Amino acid sequence: MNKLAVIGGTGIEQLEGLVVYEEHQLETPYGQPSGAIQQGRLGNAQLLFLHRHGGAATIPPHLINYRANLWALRSLGASDVVGINAVGGITSTMRPGSLVLPHQLIDYTWGREHSVDEGADGRLLHIDFTEPYDNRLRQSLVAAAYHSDIAFEDGATHGVAQGPRLETAAEVRRMARDGCDIVGMTGMPEASIARELGLAYAAICMVVNPAAGLGEEPISLAKMHEILQRETQVVRALLSSLVEK
Ligand code: HPA
Repeated sequence: MNKLAVIGGTGIEQLEGLVVYEEHQLETPYGQPSGAIQQGRLGNAQLLFLHRHGGAATIPPHLINYRANLWALRSLGASDVVGINAVGGITSTMRPGSLVLPHQLIDYTWGREHSVDEGADGRLLHIDFTEPYDNRLRQSLVAAAYHSDIAFEDGATHGVAQGPRLETAAEVRRMARDGCDIVGMTGMPEASIARELGLAYAAICMVVNPAAGLGEEPISLAKMHEILQRETQVVRALLSSLVEK
């Protein structure tokens, strides 16, 4: 049976409804994960949960130890990982409040520890990343959303920026020309390291603002949080539906 792990981002510091029966504080060959990994039950399913930004939401996107996070989840038996990301909307249908299940990504990050391949064991990890998200897991999320009548955008190209600053208007225009529909900061190298480690990975993105230069007002954290509060309830419903199926 597949064992699911959820990596929560901004707004998903805890997984409501998760009955936690163990917390794991692990050390990995890559250092420490963002925090303790909770092991518990959601409905009838076993689940692991990790908050990507750490206990007090302090680790910024470029300093997250993505390698340790995924290695630790795998060492606890995870086979499937769902990452949750807050993003800005670029394509006009990706409005604040939309839930998006991306199918492609473009990596604009730099300087992050982005691979578990350190050239040590004489094996080159040229993973096939043509389809960056695992199709089976993504389709399970699609089916769960339909099953629970949750509105979502099926497919999008997720541009992953370095952060922690937001983008300039010109950067967003360039991303739009590149084909990006949404922009976030934490989707990579999470997706590719998961693939390197043999984990099935898919993402749920919550649009919390129009990307830079596309909204009427300046982007504010307060406004993002207001939208996040509503969207996190929907994400929780989607995850419950996923594990029930
Ligand atoms: N850009 C990048 N990351 C984000 C945004 C954004 O506009 N909103 C939330 N995360």
